[in-house]
Amino acid sequence: MTLHPPHSLLAELTHRCPLQCPYCSNPLELTKKSGEISTDTWKSVLSQAAELGVLHIHFSGGEPTARPDILELVSHAREVGLYSNLITSGVLMNEGRLDALLEAGLDHVQLSFQDCEAENADRIGGHKGGHAKKLDLAREVRARGAALTVNAVVHRQNIENVPKFIDLAVELDAGRLEVAHVQYYGWALKNRAALIPSREALMKATEEVAEARERLKGQLVIDYVIPDYYARYPKPCMSGWGRVGICVTPSGKALPCHAAETITGLEFDNVADKTLADIWETSSAFQAYRGFDWMEEPCRSCERREIDWGGCRCQAFAFTGRAEATDPACSKSPMHGELVELAMEESTAPPPEFAYRRIGAA
Ligand code: SF4
Ligand code: FES
Repeated sequence: MTLHPPHSLLAELTHRCPLQCPYCSNPLELTKKSGEISTDTWKSVLSQAAELGVLHIHFSGGEPTARPDILELVSHAREVGLYSNLITSGVLMNEGRLDALLEAGLDHVQLSFQDCEAENADRIGGHKGGHAKKLDLAREVRARGAALTVNAVVHRQNIENVPKFIDLAVELDAGRLEVAHVQYYGWALKNRAALIPSREALMKATEEVAEARERLKGQLVIDYVIPDYYARYPKPCMSGWGRVGICVTPSGKALPCHAAETITGLEFDNVADKTLADIWETSSAFQAYRGFDWMEEPCRSCERREIDWGGCRCQAFAFTGRAEATDPACSKSPMHGELVELAMEESTAPPPEFAYRRIGAA
């Protein structure tokens, strides 16, 4: 397989976050502030990324605005020619900070919502008053003409509100709505029984999204990420391992996928020790599941291997203990029946209490 340059960089600036969402994709062991890489190291990573061919930088976390150097990093991204997206919970922002970020060159804001009803949203995020702040920020973003994506994270405790999420995105004048069903790694795997929706609820939400896509064509783009536990084939996770994107963690580890640390046995290079280009080309973690050579049957000879790239390695590892196993979300996996049975069982039992994400709570 020819190795092309990556086109996106997910910069997880910090694991610190005022919210405590029980489906956070960050690892259970979160990096403390003292373990975060410096502003200069991040700036060097951004410059190297641009030289390597990266086009988009996604500033993420935790909450990326918890880093006081966010303005400097956004401004540096603009200087080196990267299109910047801020993936934020919004609760640390105010009008002054938003103006400063846009002035520094921020291109796009992606704002996550825990629900459309304030009380439930604040309960899920574990942050009182958070929902109201998000609404204010969304309106301020659009009042300044900046691009806005509403990110609606959906699970069994808010799935009935999918139509309201769509109405909210329209009301907020967002250009894009991402209806993203929770994916089960990190904290979400720990909370799966509290989060996984029933097949019926999922089907209903999927139909609602399909109807809205038609109705709102030309007005709102709706992306839809389903939980593939109920699908016939898995999602093309990361568009293929080590194929188009790099994630850098708060401590500087370069990962082929934001959840790759959940796979034990992989060794990750650090941007403080190696160049991004070297990591992209030679890092053992990036090579581990790149292309097709690592695949076992049925993936190896499957006609869909260039469509879904064998699905998700993190999910395969979480469920089977082997990252090279066929993703159990695939109907051709010998473990598929077990996965579906588990999903049915957990989604119909009463949901347990959330284990909230907190630094030091694992
Ligand atoms: Fe994808 Fe492998 Fe399933 Fe084929 S067998 S559909 S490549 S996961
Ligand atoms: Fe890591 Fe899918 S989440 S490969």
